Amino acid sequence: VKARMSSPIRVVQVGLGPVGQMLTPFLLERPYLKLVGAVDIDPHKVGRDVGEVCRLDQKLNVKVVDGLDRLSKENADVALLTTTSYLSGVVPTLEQLAKLEWDVVSTCEELSYPWTRQPALAERIDAVARKHGISILSTGVNPGFLMDSWPITATSICRKVERIRIERIQDASQRRLPFQQKIGVGLSTDEFRARAASGKFGHVGLTESMQMIAARLGWKLNRTEDQIEPVLAEKDLDTALGHVKAGQAIGLQQIGKAFRGSDEIVTFVFRAALNQPDPADTLHVFGIPSFKVTIPGGIHGDIATCAVVTNAIPVVRGAAPGLRTMADLPPVGFCLEPGRIDHYQESRK
Ligand SMILES: NC(=O)c1ccc[n+]([C@@H]2O[C@H](COP(=O)([O-])OP(=O)(O)OC[C@H]3O[C@@H](n4cnc5c(N)ncnc54)[C@H](OP(=O)(O)O)[C@@H]3O)[C@@H](O)[C@H]2O)c1
Repeated sequence: VKARMSSPIRVVQVGLGPVGQMLTPFLLERPYLKLVGAVDIDPHKVGRDVGEVCRLDQKLNVKVVDGLDRLSKENADVALLTTTSYLSGVVPTLEQLAKLEWDVVSTCEELSYPWTRQPALAERIDAVARKHGISILSTGVNPGFLMDSWPITATSICRKVERIRIERIQDASQRRLPFQQKIGVGLSTDEFRARAASGKFGHVGLTESMQMIAARLGWKLNRTEDQIEPVLAEKDLDTALGHVKAGQAIGLQQIGKAFRGSDEIVTFVFRAALNQPDPADTLHVFGIPSFKVTIPGGIHGDIATCAVVTNAIPVVRGAAPGLRTMADLPPVGFCLEPGRIDHYQESRK
């Protein structure tokens, strides 16, 4: 049984890439959290103070170490795992974390709902979590919110739901260069297709979000699709990554579809490209009632991801052991001061 709600909750960060670095100040703002350790395999970060790695104006007196084996069980309660998008990549780390008996909040997209696509690994993670009495959750802006827990929560007012459509349109002109590179700006259509065929290109998690919705709404899916295509420049343009000719990619669009029988019951449109005039996140629920909610400008992905990870910590501390999802835990809400959620504890199963 977990020693619950120790105060403060002691946190170790695993993975100090852009997301891990941006997350650190969110943790420092919470009086009930204390950063006690950090792990990263990048030799440029190992041995340095976390405050310095994250370019904060203060030292945190926490040095980055190169492996979890350098830390001891007694010193922490929760690990925040921000290392990779792929399930196979986090399994060894999750097994180590289970032995340390620390709860886990991760941003690994494939861990957000692995039960349908990778059931054997999901079972293995769930079993090791239960064995060591820890709870594991993966969350973030997407997967984690915009295309799963947001629509799931929104349908709580519905008498009937026939289908769900979500559009996430991002204007990549405002985003950092590595993001623009990641979405294929400047690639020819052939280069784009070759990259897409590698299987390691584009947004990860549309399928996991569709399956999370289906699991929560009790929909049996026949199949899902996740197709990626380039968004092409209509005319030549100068970009931060150089000159892009008409017909070359200015970003990508991914369409996710989930079918029950022949009915398309979930549709996701994920577009991240330069010069998108009306970036927005839009949720359409078709049923009784039908409604549409638009967030003009769209949610800032990095802020949202760091916030939901931080806000999920008390919920995960109170959760029963096992691999959990945003669809089966109580709603995660903003939590700056310890609140009622601190007293919440799920019954053991
Ligand atoms: N769910 C969501 O909404 C959401 C939102 C944002 C991001 N994400 C995901 O969150 C992950 C983190 O994002 P990012 O942009 O920071 O990724 P990143 O640039 O790949 O950074 C990951 C960092 O973790 C380190 N690392 C890799 N394996 C490790 C291990 N086993 N132990 C310790 N450190 C390890 C990496 O070191 P090296 O560089 O030396 O490999 C790197 O410093 C990504 O997979 C991203 O796709 C999800």
